[in-house]
Amino acid sequence: MIDLHCHILPNIDDGSQSLSQSLTMARCAVKDGIHSIVATPHTLNGVYTNPAEEVATHVANLQEVFSKNNIQLQLYPGAEVQLCPNMLERINSGEAGTINNSGKYLLLELPSQTIPKGIKDEIFTLKLNGITPIVTHPERNSIIQHDPDILYELVNRGALVQITAMSLTGEFGEFVKQAVEMMLKQRVVHVIASDAHSHDNRPPVLSHAVEIAAKILGSSEEAKYMVNDTPAAILSGDIVEIPEPVHYNSKHRFFTKFF
Ligand SMILES: [Fe+2]
Repeated sequence: MIDLHCHILPNIDDGSQSLSQSLTMARCAVKDGIHSIVATPHTLNGVYTNPAEEVATHVANLQEVFSKNNIQLQLYPGAEVQLCPNMLERINSGEAGTINNSGKYLLLELPSQTIPKGIKDEIFTLKLNGITPIVTHPERNSIIQHDPDILYELVNRGALVQITAMSLTGEFGEFVKQAVEMMLKQRVVHVIASDAHSHDNRPPVLSHAVEIAAKILGSSEEAKYMVNDTPAAILSGDIVEIPEPVHYNSKHRFFTKFF
């Protein structure tokens, strides 16, 4: 499996807090059957700045430590980039990195309580310039939780979607679990990733979530695709094949539409 979203680099954000913890996380990932991890530190979120060049250096350093410790885990550079104005310029200047620095896919973090009005334009601009945004853990956004159609619209505009493994396994609570189940049924989920921040509280483990996703989707193959084929294509900068999203007509919509 490939973990496309993981805060495994030590001491550069709120993820791993030491080299020793990064090694424990790596061993935990390998034990779960993960062979590759994209290191995605927070970037441009008002707290952390992790420019692409620096992330690449951190990745190379940690990879070397893995080799010395006989850990068979391939690391790739990336970033979890908070939605902000002028994203394209910031990517082009190296302030924010794309996945594997291919310039093709970007992990895009939304605020947890709002959907910024500018999201439509930012997605349009990125797509126009060959960059596909991958919206991270929308199931943890309180607006999207109440209106699944927002995600449907984002996917129709060309975004991909990544959910967090622990949302499926229930650690974020029943409400988040229900939201993520709905998203899977709507076929608006493309990647399952750990978004791991440590070896204990939120570890780099995917297998349990994949089993649960397989039951919800009624297809083990479809669930495995989200941790194998799709992230592999993203890493290579190739086109990702996605299912047709299903429109969800909520009778109890709490919020007005944003588009
Ligand atoms: Fe994250």
